[in-house]
Amino acid sequence: MAEALRRAAQLLGSARRVVVLTGAGISAESGVPTFRDDLTGLWARFDAQQLATAEAFHADPDLVWGWYEWRRARVSRAEPNPGHRAIAAIQTRVPDSTVITQNVDDLHERAGTRAPIHLHGSLFAPRCIAAAGHPATFEDISESEPGQPDEGGRVAPPQCTSCSALVRPGVVWFGEALPQAALTAAVEAAADCDVLLTVGTSGVVYPAAEIPGIAARSGAAVIQVNPQPTPLDRVCAINLRGTAAQVLPALVAAAWEETDEG
Ligand code: OAD
Repeated sequence: MAEALRRAAQLLGSARRVVVLTGAGISAESGVPTFRDDLTGLWARFDAQQLATAEAFHADPDLVWGWYEWRRARVSRAEPNPGHRAIAAIQTRVPDSTVITQNVDDLHERAGTRAPIHLHGSLFAPRCIAAAGHPATFEDISESEPGQPDEGGRVAPPQCTSCSALVRPGVVWFGEALPQAALTAAVEAAADCDVLLTVGTSGVVYPAAEIPGIAARSGAAVIQVNPQPTPLDRVCAINLRGTAAQVLPALVAAAWEETDEG
């Protein structure tokens, strides 16, 4: 691991364009559950088909809205961890860098990352289900919210103040297309970087999982931070087996030869 970390730090420290792609693992040490980890992952405890599809929302809007309000409340109580902060530090060191996340939390922003690309939307950007997709604010929502959401709790979604349609979470559900501008920006950044760092993603959800391969085929060095093997291992030049909050600060410190004191 020490040798792999040293090689990764050399690549990162000499890169002029860096892309960081994150998944749920980056937020695990902030107390936000991942999706596919055994026992603790959301998809081990909840049925995605009943909670994360447009059909589920139409069938039972209160169940789906309540589940997302429960997740939003958990994320609001969570704090960014040293992994999120190390990624923000990379952006400070390498201004021409892009952070792409599959996460719907706001922990990158709260750690200081500028304008992360949210491939799968955000818990904090609700919109109505009408074709126009009017954005809604949580001020609108709190007026009509019947109570605090809790795990499994039902909460009636509010109505759009513009057109009275139901308001839905601003996340990408199974079967839905990713936001086109976000996907285009992510692919362009990946095709034009020197180093792509993939952190805390199982690499099984497409098209996000294609992004490390796009970077590798364009000549970038792909470095992975994950305690477990993933299907992305084969496109990665270096696999750092460890957690984001442990590995990323050490990687950033080594890349720019900082000591803990300095
Ligand atoms: P997953 O839950 O599929 O994968 C989480 C990954 O993080 C796994 O590979 C873990 O080994 C790793 N991991 C766990 N703890 C970690 C830690 N402390 N540090 C680093 N890595 C850690 O989550 P995603 O890959 O993000 O989609 O899932 C992709 C998409 O599937 C999500 O965006 C979501 C879900 O369905 C939508 O909501 C559209």
